[in-house]
Amino acid sequence: MTTRTPLMAGNWKMNLDYKEGLALVESLGEALKGVDESTVEAAVIPPFVDLRTAQTSIATNAFPLALGAQDLSEHVGTGAYTGEISGQMLAALDVTYVLVGHSERREYHREGEAVTNRKVNSAIAAGLTPILCVGEGLDERKAGKQIEYTVAQLEGGLEGLSAEDARRVVIAYEPVWAIGTGEVATPEDAQEVCGAIRETLAALYDQGVAQAVRVLYGGSVKSSNVAEIMAQPDVDGALVGGASLKAEEFAKIVRFADAA
Ligand code: 13P
Repeated sequence: MTTRTPLMAGNWKMNLDYKEGLALVESLGEALKGVDESTVEAAVIPPFVDLRTAQTSIATNAFPLALGAQDLSEHVGTGAYTGEISGQMLAALDVTYVLVGHSERREYHREGEAVTNRKVNSAIAAGLTPILCVGEGLDERKAGKQIEYTVAQLEGGLEGLSAEDARRVVIAYEPVWAIGTGEVATPEDAQEVCGAIRETLAALYDQGVAQAVRVLYGGSVKSSNVAEIMAQPDVDGALVGGASLKAEEFAKIVRFADAA
């Protein structure tokens, strides 16, 4: 069990328009009323076009929810970058977190280490907390190379970052073979790589950084399996896809400690 405040983040991916998103924020917010935010932090990560509506609902109702975005531009501030959304624009919407390097961005949008690293820096420059996503595919897992593959992504994403900035980053270990497949890594699999991530942070920086950074697990997390994953010493939360689209189910995930 972690001593860091667990973070349960719901990545909606390309689901729910702004009206549907508002309905989910409202029912989730109600379901989470009374949750002690010093013991667990909950975040929703909707599509860009839902953010303003979600922000207003969260603020008006004082819901215990943080807001995240699924991507940001590598370019800072403003400029002639058609279609891009800057970190500063997200910060103006009270966005706290931003996903960077999600396997779906790496796979479908050819985002490699260099752009991922630039996006981590853009997020930090805007005062956002990047959630840097890393994790191996099935081939690497079968070859037993999950640690070296994931650690290389981690090092690439953090390259050039100071210790002070690295402290602010959240890492999400998402083995690609476990995303949307119903195939969950065993708690031991999750611990093995999350532990290696923390050791790498200690080697790159120091123990202070390694102990401060939250490392999440993602991949087919549900209310029925979250407690055993959270029982691992180096797992500090979950990045949840499909199960975050249902208020009751995601609320149960956030309240994992109540069931334990
Ligand atoms: P699922 O929870 O649907 O497997 O998705 C995980 C994920 O990719 C979260 O970012």
